[in-house]
Amino acid sequence: MKAKKVNITETVLRDANQSLIATRLPFEKFEPILAKMDKAGYYSMECWGGATFDSCLRYLSEDPWDRLRNIRKTVKNTKLQMLLRGQNLLGYKHYPDDVVREFIKHTADCGMDIVRIFDALNDLRNIEVCVDQTKKSGMHASGTICYTVSPIHTLENYVKTAKTLENMGVDSLCIKDMAGIMSPKEAYDLVKAIKETVKLPVVLHTHSTTGLGPMTLLKAVEAGCDTIDTAISCFSNGTSQPPTESMVYTLEQMGYDTGVDQSITKEINDYFKPIQADYLKSGLLDPIVMTTKTEALVYQIPGGMLSNLVAQLKAQKALDRLEEVLLETPRVREDLGYPPLVTPMSQMVGVQAATNVLVGERYKNVSKEVKAYLRGEYGQAPGEVNADLVKKVLGDEKPVTCRFADTLAPALDSTREAVKKELGDLVRNDEDLLSYIAFPQVAEKYFNAREEKESRCVKYTVTRVDD
Ligand code: CO
Repeated sequence: MKAKKVNITETVLRDANQSLIATRLPFEKFEPILAKMDKAGYYSMECWGGATFDSCLRYLSEDPWDRLRNIRKTVKNTKLQMLLRGQNLLGYKHYPDDVVREFIKHTADCGMDIVRIFDALNDLRNIEVCVDQTKKSGMHASGTICYTVSPIHTLENYVKTAKTLENMGVDSLCIKDMAGIMSPKEAYDLVKAIKETVKLPVVLHTHSTTGLGPMTLLKAVEAGCDTIDTAISCFSNGTSQPPTESMVYTLEQMGYDTGVDQSITKEINDYFKPIQADYLKSGLLDPIVMTTKTEALVYQIPGGMLSNLVAQLKAQKALDRLEEVLLETPRVREDLGYPPLVTPMSQMVGVQAATNVLVGERYKNVSKEVKAYLRGEYGQAPGEVNADLVKKVLGDEKPVTCRFADTLAPALDSTREAVKKELGDLVRNDEDLLSYIAFPQVAEKYFNAREEKESRCVKYTVTRVDD
């Protein structure tokens, strides 16, 4: 009997890089290993999107579009993959449809193959346009379900969401456990239920944060999961993904075919080891993020959110109120209709819970983000939002119930005009324009730095010798 194929997606260039070293890996550091990575037998390499775009412009003085094109130049056989935050693209607010479509078209032109598309609230209206354009641009659209635990996030509801994504026309279905809280049993049951209902390939994305990761991936594969995300071992574990080599070793021994060459993954890991050591030395890689944190399993909130809460309370000299805040957190989440505790929702819920406790009166102070959420600017809450809270915060103002992007005017042409007037030749083409629309201040700073760098380069006249 032919062994069942299990695809491996290597995340070192995107999620591992983002989760462990705040997305600070510059192109030049990984360029020399790309050709080798292309030969490893990975199904795909996650290498773009998420926070990489922002980080390229903000910290690395790199053009993100060039980065993608340059990866594609070397990686000729392995599929390139990215993470897209639905209508938020790679930023933190909703963009109008014309911007979303143009952004995705340029992504395809630069050589992308697979676009994993999610919405933090699982409001699928916020990914429709992305899915449509991804397919129109000839790429693979991976429809994503954000995984969380709440009374309304039942197996039945997840299966329903999966079915809706299938009907939307996605090419695969990704279950995304950003917090690493999905247990092996939950993974098994969920993948099995989805596999029984939809015909699409299923992908599981998790993090090792709580120590469950490798077990969760294994049980998911046993339930029929087709693709798993892993990171090369020296950039694995903790807040990153489970290690590629250990998963490949285990799966191959159990009779699965991963297609990954274990002698090549060894070489890839050997290449990244001194890079990891450099980041440890510089302090950018804090060894603590590579350790296992099980608090999330007790409090049912992600590790990042817990450390933010601790830091916030410490700063206000109120660490002794932590227990109260941890009791308030699930109540706030319930009031907000059980949003998945992922960025930006985890921060919003945590800050509101701490504020409620410290002020001594619930919702006396409400952040502008929570106000926007209640107005419907992030999309539809998964469950019922507390009606008294909406009334208290919005008064007579009616929340938006349509897809929020429908309220946004097209911005591509108007921004092109405005930018021409304000920045002149600094913005050289539509890729620059898209970078600018995504991150105006950061992009402008980058464009200026680019000009300066280029003007410093002395331009020699080369005498051509033809012989
Ligand atoms: Co992730």
